[in-house]
Amino acid sequence: MYTQDQLKAMVAEAAKDEVLKNMAPGGILGVGTGSTANLFIDAIAPHQSHFAGVVSSSQASTDRLQKHGFKVLDSNSVQSLPMYVDGADEIDPHGHMLKGGGGALTREKIVAHLAQSFICICDGSKQVDVMGKFPLPVEIIPMAHAQVARELEKLGGVVTLRKVKGTDSVYVTDNQGWILDVAGLSIKDPVGLESQINQIPGVVCNGLFARRKANVLLIGEAAGVRRQT
Ligand code: 5RP
Repeated sequence: MYTQDQLKAMVAEAAKDEVLKNMAPGGILGVGTGSTANLFIDAIAPHQSHFAGVVSSSQASTDRLQKHGFKVLDSNSVQSLPMYVDGADEIDPHGHMLKGGGGALTREKIVAHLAQSFICICDGSKQVDVMGKFPLPVEIIPMAHAQVARELEKLGGVVTLRKVKGTDSVYVTDNQGWILDVAGLSIKDPVGLESQINQIPGVVCNGLFARRKANVLLIGEAAGVRRQT
């Protein structure tokens, strides 16, 4: 039996192979955020001459990429990326994803939108029939937090303002936003809910990646890495 960390390492390695095989040398790669994305960054580090540079979805990933010597480019300087590799917190059978456990959902959505192909890397525990067991992160403008929380409660969720783990300090995103985590949803219409939440004034972005799904899923399971398109 593999541990969850071993499964994450396996998919990170498979994603490295997928990228090196399918992305022409000299291109710019989009890189996600989280523990699985971190393992992917470490896996591609010895191959960085393959890439003209990378676009990162968070300060944390930028720091890790730069430590390895990658050239990290401003997303405004690229018009399109051939590939974006990132993890997920939940994936439903239709390939809709819930993301943002690491707080980087807005930048992740921006970089994913730039990418021609989104490669989602995760261990099998992230696959669910219906999303919502993992609280849905919603990035908000701080002055609207109470108002947005009331609107999210009307959707049937239990809303918590995210704090820095183990402290009473509010978690602040790379964009100076705050995050409301919405528990208790049963997300049967992810495309509709993604749009609906985005209509609430004060919402910057929510963690549903239903309108822009992954093109390729690499899922780490006991039998090995399963590739799904
Ligand atoms: C960060 C994310 C991550 O991709 C997601 O939380 C999965 O993280 P991990 O690979 O650590 O399980 O969306 O905002």
